[in-house]
Amino acid sequence: MALSPVHSASSSGVQPGSNNNIAVDNKTQGNAYNFKEIAKSLFIGLKQVGDLYKNAAINLHQELQRSTKDFDGLSQAARNAFTKTFGSPSSAKAKEDLALKTNQQKVSAKKIQDIHVKGQTFTHIASGKSKHVFRNVDANAKNVVYKPVQDMSERLLNNRTNEIIDEVVLAKKIQTKIQDPKGLNVPKDAEVNIALDMEVVGGGKGLTVEAPKASGDLESLSKVSMKPLVAINLCNQILNGMTHMHAAGYVHGDIKPENILIYSDGDATTARIADLGKTQSIDPNQTLVYSGNGRYTAPEGGLNQQSEVYGTALTLVRVLESTLPHGPDGLVTVPAKSPILDAKNIDKKEINSAEKNERFGIEKFVTLHKDCVQTERSTLSGKFKMLLREAKVAVGVSTPSPKQQAAVHSYIDAVVDQLAVSDDQKIILRSTLKQMTNNDPATRPTMQQAKDRFEAF
Ligand SMILES: Nc1ncnc2c1ncn2[C@@H]1O[C@H](COP(=O)(O)OP(=O)(O)OP(=O)(O)O)[C@@H](O)[C@H]1O
Ligand SMILES: [Mg+2]
Repeated sequence: MALSPVHSASSSGVQPGSNNNIAVDNKTQGNAYNFKEIAKSLFIGLKQVGDLYKNAAINLHQELQRSTKDFDGLSQAARNAFTKTFGSPSSAKAKEDLALKTNQQKVSAKKIQDIHVKGQTFTHIASGKSKHVFRNVDANAKNVVYKPVQDMSERLLNNRTNEIIDEVVLAKKIQTKIQDPKGLNVPKDAEVNIALDMEVVGGGKGLTVEAPKASGDLESLSKVSMKPLVAINLCNQILNGMTHMHAAGYVHGDIKPENILIYSDGDATTARIADLGKTQSIDPNQTLVYSGNGRYTAPEGGLNQQSEVYGTALTLVRVLESTLPHGPDGLVTVPAKSPILDAKNIDKKEINSAEKNERFGIEKFVTLHKDCVQTERSTLSGKFKMLLREAKVAVGVSTPSPKQQAAVHSYIDAVVDQLAVSDDQKIILRSTLKQMTNNDPATRPTMQQAKDRFEAF
């Protein structure tokens, strides 16, 4: 769900349009909030989030039922979560509701069937929030196709289609800008590391977008051990892509490992920044609302080029973690004995419950560490907190805690210490990643400067 920009250094007045979850009326209120508008927008936003959350709970319940057969067989935690969302299952109405919704869910699950484009058959391989991604069943096929996620009403489905078309249009714009000799003057054969080569195929309801097929995204591939030099090379490429995006005057808006595609060709591994669904052009000094993954949010909130340097650093840490020994769950995690995870300001109970969470490493650390303001936004209260924080940041009320910076920096130390690279290389990695994750945006390097430092390897 893309949010529109709602505030900037120069904007004033309440922005029209249903997509604005927060509105700050600077014109009539000076620097004070227009609480009525904010409250109204928050409730509209929360209603949407609540519906999505309910659907996720239905999915979860179905999953659990598959393995446990009935409600009584569920764990206490699952029973509590279920009851909280749907009421007691003994209530006839709740059962009826569930049956209806389960049925709706099944119908929409069935929709992710093979599709046929230009006489070829494509099968579903992955989905994000707005796209289903299909791969040609022919294993040697070079392309994938995208379809809008289809579990929304017809109206929303059409919006998603438009969002995907917008993404292709934007990719072309960025490509032109990057290759325009009057603009950035990047030679045509230079490696740009942004996945810009998308094409619209067909139209209307049958619309698909075609793009070169990647081996996978960085999150799924980081579960496979990577050599340190391969990881550092990928970090360089990610910085290269982000630098080009920023130089062209854009912010990506949702930088995270799942949105970085990896193309393997023999020994060559290429990273490309993908998913431009939240990408927007931005003026210097402008701040937009960040609507991406809360685990990669900068502590000051909001979206601009400086905040994206922070999220990019956390993504790079995630890449470096993939070179460390894997935990028992097959994902990367800092060993339990690490002084960081022993730190007394981490809530032990939360760690235990989060053990079931599939996220590990830096992502888990920043969401569990009490001093880090990053919020797990898949919970309603998390989203609510984040929205409030964004509203405050708009008028400069929020100040990130210095403890957050210290916590993230010591995490970076722990990861870099374990890397099998030279001491000189460790020094560069540590200092660059730490500066990129400084709480004060003004003291962070620009994406270009960070890239230059990494390249000094
Ligand atoms: N060209 C590709 N080749 C292979 N896999 C791809 C490709 N494009 C996307 N994917 C897979 O599909 C997933 C979803 O794609 P994408 O991020 O573009 O969709 P989205 O719905 O916008 O995601 P989000 O939930 O981040 O908004 C990616 O994380 C990746 O795993
Ligand atoms: Mg994505």
